[in-house]
Amino acid sequence: MSRLKAFVFDAYGTLFDVRSVQSRCEEVFPGYGAAITTMWRTKQLEYSWLRSLMNRYADFWQVTEDGLRYTCLALGLEPDQTALERIMESYLSIAPYPDTGQALQALAPYPLAILSNGTPSMLEAAVRNAGLEAVFSAVLSVDEIQIYKPHPSVYGLATAKLNLPPEEIAFVSSNGWDVAGAKAFGFYVCWLNRTNAPVEELDVRPDLIIASPLELAKLTS
Ligand code: LAC
Repeated sequence: MSRLKAFVFDAYGTLFDVRSVQSRCEEVFPGYGAAITTMWRTKQLEYSWLRSLMNRYADFWQVTEDGLRYTCLALGLEPDQTALERIMESYLSIAPYPDTGQALQALAPYPLAILSNGTPSMLEAAVRNAGLEAVFSAVLSVDEIQIYKPHPSVYGLATAKLNLPPEEIAFVSSNGWDVAGAKAFGFYVCWLNRTNAPVEELDVRPDLIIASPLELAKLTS
């Protein structure tokens, strides 16, 4: 790890817990909180990949709302605009994982950045809500280039911004497919495997597998 000069984090699922929206889903559609939360995340990601392949970019707020609408319809619910808006709002105050703040503080001697599918305003709201504004030297959004992860040009935003070669950047994500994309690009990749999942079968393997971001701090101290 000695050649590493900066840490770049994925946002949703890595720093912020996408399951934390479940209580709002449950409030709006009692009995469906868990089902909505799971299918919604799947559709949100599918739509990001599909739109990239179709060359029909829509920003992540739109893709997230579209995924939510589909999910509600698939579950037989009637998603009127008020219901959708109330649930969508929860994405702006999405909860950080309990270990996020402490891990970032411990890595603070390094430049830290976020590289995410989220729009700049979604990311700004989540970072502010979590009290992490002072931690990051850059919050990078795919919105700048209008294509989603795992397209290589997305990872190139980090090397350009940090002015470092990929092998000097540690990229941290809990999303296995994002890990594969980042490794194919050339980063030193840490897979934050919070759920003890197998490595994705995508021809590349992470350099390091950890169960909590607190392990990163230990490795670098
Ligand atoms: C992100 C997606 C992968 O934050 O959740 O980029």
